[in-house]
Amino acid sequence: MTARRVVITDVGPRDGLQNQQKILSVEQRIELVKAIAAAGVPHIEVGSFVSPKAVPAMASTGQVFAGLRRDGFATSTVALIPNMKGYELARDAGAKTVTMVLYGSEGMAHANASMSMAETEAVTLDILVLAKEDDIKVIATIAVAFTCPFDGSTAQSTVTQLVAKFLEAGADQVVLADTIGAANPQQVRELCAPLVRRHGAEKLGCHFHDTRAMGLANVYAALESGIRRFDSSIAGLGGCPFAPGASGNVATDDIAMMLQQMGYETGIDLNKLMQASDLAQALTGTAPGGRAKAWLQGHLIKQAS
Ligand code: COA
Ligand code: ZN
Repeated sequence: MTARRVVITDVGPRDGLQNQQKILSVEQRIELVKAIAAAGVPHIEVGSFVSPKAVPAMASTGQVFAGLRRDGFATSTVALIPNMKGYELARDAGAKTVTMVLYGSEGMAHANASMSMAETEAVTLDILVLAKEDDIKVIATIAVAFTCPFDGSTAQSTVTQLVAKFLEAGADQVVLADTIGAANPQQVRELCAPLVRRHGAEKLGCHFHDTRAMGLANVYAALESGIRRFDSSIAGLGGCPFAPGASGNVATDDIAMMLQQMGYETGIDLNKLMQASDLAQALTGTAPGGRAKAWLQGHLIKQAS
């Protein structure tokens, strides 16, 4: 990874769709994943293996994986898991990368996973051992790395200790997630810059929500701190049903445009990304669309004519 290369994971088909009133069919979910991949986004979080009672929209993630395999889908896919059962289901579905969720607060660990922070850490260590044997990559995402809707501010030391512990334990990446979109760019820099100095950028990532209109500013602060991996969501879809106040992720549309204009390489074709964004909006009826979309569409149409 060069300093000018930024790696995007589109989490819309998981973080985005999990919070929609409308439940998409397996074929619609596959269509959305393929449209995002067609735009050159290198990694896509395709779904989660969670309790179907807790998140009905993610009930058929195994079938989404099977359908993609059937169609010879080649882009890297990721599955989110909350516990050991999720790991087993993801492995059996053929997932090659899983995102296991850790927590910056007890309140969120209980609300999201019905476990204590220590229990989620212990399960994640077990999963890391199994995943090595199963040749599966593990991303450890620290939810509420800045602020928790139940417990308030997350101590920076809690997060830095989790990052060190799980990188040392062999996680392929650790992602800092601002689950409810409460961080500001100064906090992002204060957390990220020392982590990049200590661990390097290769295995660190950030996940921002745009709840308070600071999503893109937070991406910029993380970028300036050396972070080169970001989660974002097509058309700004998103939100966590278990975190009150969480709204959409920072839109892939916006982040891809900003990075391209700043001269970073993402491999993303903005014209095709707009097609994926249109599809996300058409399928859900609720995706806000990135802030950059109106400008981008006018500009890209002019370029094409
Ligand atoms: N995938 C599918 N089913 C699962 C599961 C998983 N990863 N983990 C547990 N289950 C099932 C259990 O088998 C059980 O099924 P049953 O009712 O048919 O017997 C049921 O879910 C309840 O399991 P239990 O262990 O009692 O957990 P719980 O009711 O306290 O729920 C979670 C805990 C973690 C399973 C549930 O809260 C969940 O899936 N949350 C998802 C959170 C999420 O997606 N958040 C957004 C992304 S960060
Ligand atoms: Zn999120």
